Amino acid sequence: MAILFENGIFRLDAGETSYAMMIGEDRTLLHLYYGARLADSDLGYLLYLLPTASFSALRAELVRPGHSPDTLLQEFSCNGTGDFRASACQIRDADGHSATDLRYVSHRILPGKYALPGLPATYAEDERDAATLEITLEDPHTGLRAVLLYGVFEHLGAVTRAVRLENPSSRTVTVERVFSACLDLPRCDLDLVSLWGHWSCERNVARRPIDRGSQGVSSKRGASGHAENPFIALCSRNADETSGDVYAASFVYSGNFEASAEVDSYGMTRLLLGLETTDFAWTLEPGESFTAPEAVLVYSAEGFGGMSRTFHRLFRQHLVRGAWKTKRRPILVNNWEATYFDFDEEKLAAIARDAADLGIEMLVMDDGWFGARNDDTSSLGDWTVNEEKLRGGLAPLVRRVNEMGLKFGIWFEPEMISPVSRLCETHPEWVLGIPGRGKSIARSQYVLDMSRADVRDYLFDAMAAILSSANIEYVKWDFNRNLTEAGSLLLPPERGKEIFHRYVLGLYELLERLHTAFPELLLEGCSGGGGRFDPGMLYYTPQIWTSDNTDACERLFIQHGTSLVYPPSSISAHVSATPNHRTGRETPFVTRGVVAMGGAFGYELDLTKLTDEERALVREQVAFYRKYCGVVQNGDYYRLISPFEDRNLAAWSSVSEDRRTVIVSVVAYRFRYPRAEFLRLCGLDPEAVYVDRGSGARYRGSTLMRAGLNLTREFRDGESVRIVLEAEA
Ligand code: DGJ
Repeated sequence: MAILFENGIFRLDAGETSYAMMIGEDRTLLHLYYGARLADSDLGYLLYLLPTASFSALRAELVRPGHSPDTLLQEFSCNGTGDFRASACQIRDADGHSATDLRYVSHRILPGKYALPGLPATYAEDERDAATLEITLEDPHTGLRAVLLYGVFEHLGAVTRAVRLENPSSRTVTVERVFSACLDLPRCDLDLVSLWGHWSCERNVARRPIDRGSQGVSSKRGASGHAENPFIALCSRNADETSGDVYAASFVYSGNFEASAEVDSYGMTRLLLGLETTDFAWTLEPGESFTAPEAVLVYSAEGFGGMSRTFHRLFRQHLVRGAWKTKRRPILVNNWEATYFDFDEEKLAAIARDAADLGIEMLVMDDGWFGARNDDTSSLGDWTVNEEKLRGGLAPLVRRVNEMGLKFGIWFEPEMISPVSRLCETHPEWVLGIPGRGKSIARSQYVLDMSRADVRDYLFDAMAAILSSANIEYVKWDFNRNLTEAGSLLLPPERGKEIFHRYVLGLYELLERLHTAFPELLLEGCSGGGGRFDPGMLYYTPQIWTSDNTDACERLFIQHGTSLVYPPSSISAHVSATPNHRTGRETPFVTRGVVAMGGAFGYELDLTKLTDEERALVREQVAFYRKYCGVVQNGDYYRLISPFEDRNLAAWSSVSEDRRTVIVSVVAYRFRYPRAEFLRLCGLDPEAVYVDRGSGARYRGSTLMRAGLNLTREFRDGESVRIVLEAEA
C-alpha cells in the first residue's frame, strides 16, 4: 500500500522515499517527515514541538507550550492566524479580512492518480502505478475548503501535490495566494539550487547556501521564461551527483511561478512552490472552485543524479503522452539556420533531397512561410500560405518531400500577432492590452489574448486548416516574447489579476484541442529557444527546442543544466554550421554530432553546402543514432563531469534500461593538456563484462565503476571521445 492512515498519521511511500503528516489535536494538518523510506507507521514522536517561543501565539483551544502554528511544521500553512511565515494560502473573505485557518475534515484514499481539469498533470495509465490521497480542510469561519491532492508513484520516488479551493458559502471570496507545494523541513543546513539563464544561455546551475529569511526564484513574464526555471531544490551542503540529500520540487506549469525557501528563527525551512503571488488573485463566487497546478516532489538520498533519474522516468512515463511518448523521434533537418526567412519551395526541396540521400527522416519548414513574412516585422496571425514563396500552396511541396521519403513538419507561433497583419487590422481587440495604455513591443510583435475563446477558436481553425491541407506530421510551436500590459477586454476589473493564469489555461486548452484533433502529430515546444522549457509544456509537446544557441560547446552547459530535471528525449539538439552563427566558434563536425545526440537529434544547417567528408559523417551519425537512440531516449542518464565544475571537460553517459549498453561521451569545450583522468562510470552491472566497441578492450562493470576509463590524454579544443560499451552475452 502506497498510502497508509493509522492513528491520525498519514504515511505515503513512493519508491525509496516516505512522506508523513498527522492530524494535530486542534485538527490542523502537521508535517512530520519527508526523506528516505521508513518502515514504522507510529511516527507521532517526530512532531516538532519547540518548547518555548515567545511572541508565537497559541490557538484558543490548544493553549499548550509548543503548539503554536508559528513553530510547528505545517502541511498547508495559512495566513493571519498565528503562523507568521510565508503562507501557502491566503483568502480574502467577503468582509475584507485575509485571515485563513484550515482544519482537517475528512480524507479519501483512491487507487490511481488524480487528474486536474484543464491543467497538465502526471498520470498513471495503470491504476496500480499510483495512488491518490485527498484531504479536505475547512475554514470554520468562512466555510471555505481546501482539498489537498497527493499523488504517490509507488515505484518512482515521486510524490505530486495540487490543491483545489472550494467556496461552498453564499458569499464571494478572493484567493490571494495559493501554493501547490508547501514543505516544512526541520533543518536549515541546506543549499538552494535553481536553474537561471537568458536567451541563448538557458538553465545554468546556481547553488548557494540558504540563510535566515526568504530566498528564491520566480517569473512574472507570463511564461516560465528563460530567466528562471520552475524548479527548486534544497540539498545537504555535501550533496553532489552521487550522494547527499536532495529535496526537489518542479512545477507542472508554463506561466508565472514563485519558488522560495524561508528559514525561520528556529532553524526550520519552508519550501513553497506555486503560482506567483503579486500578479495573481482569483474571485470565487458561491459554489465555485479553483484548482492550482501540480507540483512534483522528489527526494533523493543519492544526490542530484538520483533526483534527475526520478524526474526523467516520471516525465517520460507519466507526463509525456500520446503517439510519440515511446516512439523513436524522427531525425529532422530544420531550415532556420540554413535559410532564415529567405527560402522558397526549390530551396526547401534541395535541402530535402540531400536529407533523403543522407538518411535524415523529416524536413521542418521554420518561420516565414505565411502571410507576407520575409522578416520578423509582419504577418504573425495570418496563418495562410505565402504563395510567392510556395507556389501552389503547401500540398505540392509536402507531396514532393514525402515522395523523397521524408516526413514534413511546420513552424507556428500561434499566441502572437504582428501589428502589421491582416488579423490585427480585423481584430485589434484580440491583442492583450490595457485600454488607454500603450503596448510594449518585442520582436515587432504583440501577444494575443489567449484567455478569449474567440481567439482560441480562430487559432484552432487556422491551424487545423493548414494541418489538414497536407500531410504535416510535426509542429514546432514557438513563443518569442513575454507578456506586458496584460489585460483582457473581457475581464471585469475585479478579475483583472486573473489574466496571467487565464492566459495559460487558454494556451493549454488550445494545445489539448490540437492534441485531440491530430493525435499522431508530434509537437515540439519552443520559445526563442528554451524560454518555456517546463513540465507543463512537456505534457503537450514531448520535445522542446532547448536553446537558439546551437554552438556545441555552449550546449554542453545548457544541456547539462536542462538534464537536471528534463529527460534527454525532451531536449531537442541539432548539429549546426560552423563557425557557429551565434558565437563564431568552430567546432569539429564529429563533436557537434556527439553533443546533439545527447538529446532529440537533428540538423539545422544547409545540407546542400556540406563537403563530401561532412556528408560521410552525417551518414555515420544518422546510422549511430538510429542504432542507439533507444538507449538515449529511454535509458538512464548520468552526468559524469560537469562543465560548470571542470575547466575543460564535460562528460555524460546513457545506460540502457537492461544495463547492457552504455554510451559514454566526453567533450573538451577547451583545450586540455594531458593529465591523469580516470572517468568512473555509474549504473553498470558490476558483474557484467563490457566490451568497448571501438578498441575491443574488455572491462568488468565493477572495474569501470571503481577504477574508471582511462582518459589520460590530451584533448584538442572542441575534441570529443565517444565510447560504446556492450555487455558480453
Ligand atoms: C525562435 C526559435 O527558437 C528559432 O529556432 C526559430 O524558430 C525562430 N524563432 C523563428 O522566428
